[in-house]
Amino acid sequence: MIKRLRFLSRRRFWKLLLVTLFSTGVLYIAFIFFIFLYFHYEIKHDPISRIPKIVIYGDTRTYHDTHRKIVEMIRSESPSVVFHTGDLMTHGWGLPDWFAFHRIEKELIKETDYYATLGNHEHNSLLYYLYFDFPGNEEYYSVDRYGIHFTVLNSTGDLSKDSEQYKWFVHDLRDHKDAAFKFVIFHHPLYSRMKVEDEMNIGESILPIMKKFKVHAVFNAHLHSYERSYVDGIHHIITAGGGAPLRGPRRENDYSKVYVRNYHYTKMYFEGDELVYKAIDIDGKEIDSLRFYPHKDPHYNLVKHKRD
Ligand SMILES: [Fe+2]
Repeated sequence: MIKRLRFLSRRRFWKLLLVTLFSTGVLYIAFIFFIFLYFHYEIKHDPISRIPKIVIYGDTRTYHDTHRKIVEMIRSESPSVVFHTGDLMTHGWGLPDWFAFHRIEKELIKETDYYATLGNHEHNSLLYYLYFDFPGNEEYYSVDRYGIHFTVLNSTGDLSKDSEQYKWFVHDLRDHKDAAFKFVIFHHPLYSRMKVEDEMNIGESILPIMKKFKVHAVFNAHLHSYERSYVDGIHHIITAGGGAPLRGPRRENDYSKVYVRNYHYTKMYFEGDELVYKAIDIDGKEIDSLRFYPHKDPHYNLVKHKRD
């Protein structure tokens, strides 16, 4: 017994512990890397040849059954392009969260041209970048489809006027100023009846340039309901009804046009050269609709809403 204790001296014990921890850590990292490499190639896809239909939805964390139902509804729409407005899962570093997300979303991701936005729950995790394959630096990027310019920003990152992301955003909008339609997607809303608005204080920098370059609409998430506000010719749409716990209104928002506390997704499709926009709740009921006009149309930024 004494000999054994001598064999496992204090020094040897710490050495053994460090080697064990190091080996386990390396094995764990390798395991994660290969799992995500598998996910990455399983979902990799080419651009989809379907009738143009865009779906935008978000905040799919927490309630998996609701998330699954919303994804089934979206798949039944046969969209060609899909954007997720962020908060894909409860914790972006959590492996069980990624497995659950993958189980529910993989068919939708495989069969569409699929893009996501960083929410606060992603924690800018390395796993997000291992799982997806987006253009540019993947944190913020833009995509052009059917004459529509989509810009995806990271509202959890720096968007002050001195930041790289802000400078990139100005260039991106300037380079695509002639696009027929312009939509900007980021996680934190600038206007809302729920909890807070402009939580990240980014409106001061990005609102003037979105107004200057005549963005049609902004899509957000984070506050878990449906809301559309209309400010200075831009629609601000919160689509955060993909499975996260619903939130009720807590404050005034003078710009709010529609507010619905229910799970939902939104879709857009062409009628001629105009874009029809609809929000659909989890029961299949239309909760909002309007029409976007291409830039060449002098009425492109007018509210055309049946309740206005
Ligand atoms: Fe969020």
